[in-house]
Amino acid sequence: DNYCVIMGGGIGSRFWPFSRESHPKQFLDFFGTGRSLLQMTYDRFKRFVPEENILIVTNESYAAKVKEQLPEIGADQILCEPTRRNTAPCIAYASYHIFARNPKANIIVAPSDHLILREEEFVRAASEALEFVADHEQLVTLGIRPSRPETGYGYIQMAEEKVGNFIRVKTFTEKPNAEMAAVFLASGEFLWNSGMFVWNVGSILEAFRKYLPEVTSALESGMANYNTPQEQAFIEQAFPYCPSISIDFGVMEKADNVLVMPVDFGWADLGTWGSLYELADKDQDANATLKTRALFYEAERNIVTTDNPDKLVVVQGISDCIIAESENVLLICRSEEEQRIKHFLADAALKY
Ligand code: GDD
Ligand code: MG
Repeated sequence: DNYCVIMGGGIGSRFWPFSRESHPKQFLDFFGTGRSLLQMTYDRFKRFVPEENILIVTNESYAAKVKEQLPEIGADQILCEPTRRNTAPCIAYASYHIFARNPKANIIVAPSDHLILREEEFVRAASEALEFVADHEQLVTLGIRPSRPETGYGYIQMAEEKVGNFIRVKTFTEKPNAEMAAVFLASGEFLWNSGMFVWNVGSILEAFRKYLPEVTSALESGMANYNTPQEQAFIEQAFPYCPSISIDFGVMEKADNVLVMPVDFGWADLGTWGSLYELADKDQDANATLKTRALFYEAERNIVTTDNPDKLVVVQGISDCIIAESENVLLICRSEEEQRIKHFLADAALKY
């Protein structure tokens, strides 16, 4: 059986002030299409994974939001975390739940904040990877050809060895600094980690045992509870014992059985303002205006957005900036400093 785990419990702090803890970016409709990123992710997977096997793992404070946005799914498709522990514990929890349903399941894990432009191609690649892991004990990641020295992604170095369309991974480096990212890009040996992973449930549980035994011991102590009415009570009690760590740092950087499948299906991560800017329509001076009105004078390469379509923003003499207003916050920040936004958010939370 094929299963899909959609991770939808992040707070999207680098997209502040648009993304808030109370309504993180996965629940937002960025382009005014009428579907949020989470809804678009669900729609994409139901094309090739049986709907009852698509699970959404989220923080319990977002469960109601998930139900509201995806009214068609069953309550048993939403897995709730009582505390924020990043993506490794999220994936481990979903894996135990799936193991209790089918110990031979193949799983595709995906974030809820991506756009995929060529869905046919995506469905073909993801299906091939799911078929592959059914009889290979490998951790497969889908890799994207990099186009800029982005520091917000994981970088995958390819080795010589190939198994069909899958390439052995030599090193995996999560979020390198700018200098390293530039070297990786120039070498031509690296792909970006798309954040989508494919594996057999047995392979990933084994990897947790090896590389994150604290997660295993917290979540394996009550194996008999998974997929029963006692699951939620067990998780409430056990989950907080997991360390907070991402799958990238916790497993992918350490494992030696990682393969990458190079893919090209028009992937775009909506992780940061820069990624949204790349996708947005731009005027002749490369200014992007989203969901608002704007006039530009001697201004280039800005991204401007507010949550009021009637608002007019006038920008003079300012270039390469993010100008974003949402509710009670107005952010004006140089685009190249966008990785600092999560720290601005932390300061704002402390002071106001
Ligand atoms: N359920 C749950 N619980 N989901 C979470 C949690 C959590 O505690 N934390 C994050 N998520 C979800 C987010 O909502 C998002 O959909 C996904 O997990 C990935 O988390 P991000 O916080 O967006 O990760 P990232 O963008 O910094 O890095 C990852 O994605 C990059 C590509 O977009 C890494 O996998 C990188 O290696 C990768 O390049
Ligand atoms: Mg992300």
